[in-house]
Amino acid sequence: MACSRFEYVKSFEQDDSILPNVWIVIRIDGKKFHKFSKTHDFEKPNDENALNVMNAAATAVMQEFRDIVLAYGQSDEYSFVFRKETAAFKRRSAKLLTYVTSLFSSSYVMQWSKWMNLPLAYAPCFDGRVVLYPSEQNLKDYLSWRQADVHVNNLYNTAFWKLVLEKGLTNQQAEAKLRGTFSADKNELLFQEFGINYNNLPAMYRKGTILLRKRVILGEKSRQAVVPLHEDLISSQFWKEHTEILGKYVPGTYNAPQTLPRLVEMQINGKELDDEAEEPQNLAGTS
Ligand code: GTP
Ligand code: MG
Repeated sequence: MACSRFEYVKSFEQDDSILPNVWIVIRIDGKKFHKFSKTHDFEKPNDENALNVMNAAATAVMQEFRDIVLAYGQSDEYSFVFRKETAAFKRRSAKLLTYVTSLFSSSYVMQWSKWMNLPLAYAPCFDGRVVLYPSEQNLKDYLSWRQADVHVNNLYNTAFWKLVLEKGLTNQQAEAKLRGTFSADKNELLFQEFGINYNNLPAMYRKGTILLRKRVILGEKSRQAVVPLHEDLISSQFWKEHTEILGKYVPGTYNAPQTLPRLVEMQINGKELDDEAEEPQNLAGTS
């Protein structure tokens, strides 16, 4: 391209390359989802289908960005963890952030009608941020922080909406009843007043969703897919089991439940099954 006298303006662009050898986490969060969930009549406190729109959008992001080794979602947020060595987009912060956030948003819209039976009333949008973690422990603690957040919020919200929807309390009355209570009190209230054992509620609501790339065994064949897990990632057991996250990136086998989650089925349907030997393993940085 010919040089023009305007060319010098390029020098105003700042280098935003992320330093090497750190975990890159991108977290997106829905803008005003309090209103969005009301407008779209989400079930309270958890709407399984709406959460699956989030999960499906995050799956689409993981399919595109092969250097994402784990994604973790709850409520209206998702965190994406890039492997430490990623060279994706030359580690340029703005590029990574905007690609992930915009792909997530457009995928959310694309997935909507596959899970929800009412039309989108308006375009949802998501903010995004980049956070860097230098050590494995920092990364584990970050994810534990997000999972602990689900626990605190979900226990409160479950008790709150039971009081409002089943006991007929006003929002203010329910709030007053729960003010100053500890987890054990809320567990007790759910059990005594509603016969609910909190630990028996769906794991997706209590633990959020962890997306990992795994080998799904289908009879004689297997193929890679992004699979949803609802495990306790605060426990050391999780990290012992899923060694591919922090170690050499070789996806493990998916311990599939009896019926494959729809999220996995959707990835597998309509595609040829790869023989295990031919499994694609190119996880080099997207550029
Ligand atoms: P900003 O993120 O600051 O724009 O505000 P926000 O309204 O999105 O609040 P925040 O991100 O803190 O919390 C997410 C909100 O989304 C929750 O407070 C709920 O109101 C709503 N939400 C998310 N998931 C569900 C769901 O499964 N069911 C229902 N009913 N609401 C949900
Ligand atoms: Mg939000």
